Amino acid sequence: MLNPTDLAAFPPDFAWGTATSAYQIEGAVTEDGRSPSIWDTFSHTPGTVDNGDHGDTACDHYHRWPEDIALMRALGVGTYRLSIAWPRVVPGGDGPVNTAGLDFYDRLVDGLLAAGITPSVTLYHWDLPQTLEDRGGWTVRDTAEHLATYTAAVAGRLGDRVTQWATLNEPLCSAWIGYLEGKMAPGRTDLEAAVRASYHLLLGHGLATQALRATAPGAQIGLVTNHSPVEPATSRPEDLAAAVRMDGHTNRWWLDPVYGRGFPADMRELYGVDLPERPGDDTTIAAPLDWHGLNYYFPVTVSDAPSEPVPHVQEVRLPNVPRTGMDWQVGAYGLESLLLRLTDDYGVRRLYVTENGSAFPDTVAPDGTINDPDRATYLEQHLAACASAIRKGAPLAGYYAWSLLDNFEWAYGYDKRFGLVHVDFPTQRRTIKTSGHRYADIIRAHKESSVTD
Ligand code: FCB
Repeated sequence: MLNPTDLAAFPPDFAWGTATSAYQIEGAVTEDGRSPSIWDTFSHTPGTVDNGDHGDTACDHYHRWPEDIALMRALGVGTYRLSIAWPRVVPGGDGPVNTAGLDFYDRLVDGLLAAGITPSVTLYHWDLPQTLEDRGGWTVRDTAEHLATYTAAVAGRLGDRVTQWATLNEPLCSAWIGYLEGKMAPGRTDLEAAVRASYHLLLGHGLATQALRATAPGAQIGLVTNHSPVEPATSRPEDLAAAVRMDGHTNRWWLDPVYGRGFPADMRELYGVDLPERPGDDTTIAAPLDWHGLNYYFPVTVSDAPSEPVPHVQEVRLPNVPRTGMDWQVGAYGLESLLLRLTDDYGVRRLYVTENGSAFPDTVAPDGTINDPDRATYLEQHLAACASAIRKGAPLAGYYAWSLLDNFEWAYGYDKRFGLVHVDFPTQRRTIKTSGHRYADIIRAHKESSVTD
């Protein structure tokens, strides 16, 4: 259990939450007018996702959301980060709004509020309507503009009850993994396309921010980005330079333009791709935000690797360092250092950890319980890192454990389980794991100590 000093570091109104995303949990991919997204196409393309898994049914959350809200209540969370599926709301990508698609989120938001849980809504968590990808996807400017139109439709319907909004989730993964490495939808491997996609994603973020400000006065708007602190493998100049490149690729490219510094010059030169810039875009991209969401999973150590694709680095495996079931290095110190970097270097005034968690192989005991000490330890270590960052001045207002449920873990399918709640996919039976009970204990203890203080 988190020690009392750490627990006391969290302010009394700290937001304890869990997070999910639409394609990973909803299923119901053809219901009520939803059109295919790039993830439907990608996951149904042979060889892309482990075991040939796809999100057709996922956690069937589209039908089971009342049960999932009850699980959140059992955990004692006060907030829930969900994402909206663009192809449900605007099936054509642009054009007519599908009221039936919005109805689902309307019910969900009302259900959450009735349960005393504050929704935090992310507009784009990777499920681009396939029809927009067919017209160029994020490589074209129109997509950024369509994001803003879709955003206005969602905010127009939910903005009277939802105040906490994020535009994008992890644009790094959309651009670098989706268009450069090809390991996520849409599965392209083209540097020029990837750099253009990164630009239009951030432009879309800025345009969606404008749409939210215009449609939902009082909206608290943030951007969710994922980062890793980068260490050089040795003190050789080549490795030091490799770490600077990796930091640019993973961190600065996504933060500098949003915080008014423009796209980093060293990375522009490294990519060698002309950005599709127009006058005024820099201001749009750097629109003032109310909060920043950090998704954190692992730190990285790199060495110089000139023959590797951009940014020409190789990840180095450190000996004797624990790794999760994703083979990701465990390093809670990285969460603290990133929170402090966002605070001290970028001047962020309100922070959330919008995702943090771990996959480990789970075993269901004969009595049906799931004892997952590794996941519980990971959770506590990272909460202790949050506490330490708060003590050093980070304005951290909340933490969202990834994830509420085991779910469709993108290219890894259903084998990688991040849930605090176990899902038996054939029966859709949900069972809170030991880590979920631990999280509930922490939330309860924090609540009780805040009341007595
Ligand atoms: C993040 C994604 C989230 C989930 C976790 C494990 O990159 O935002 O959807 O897959 O990783």
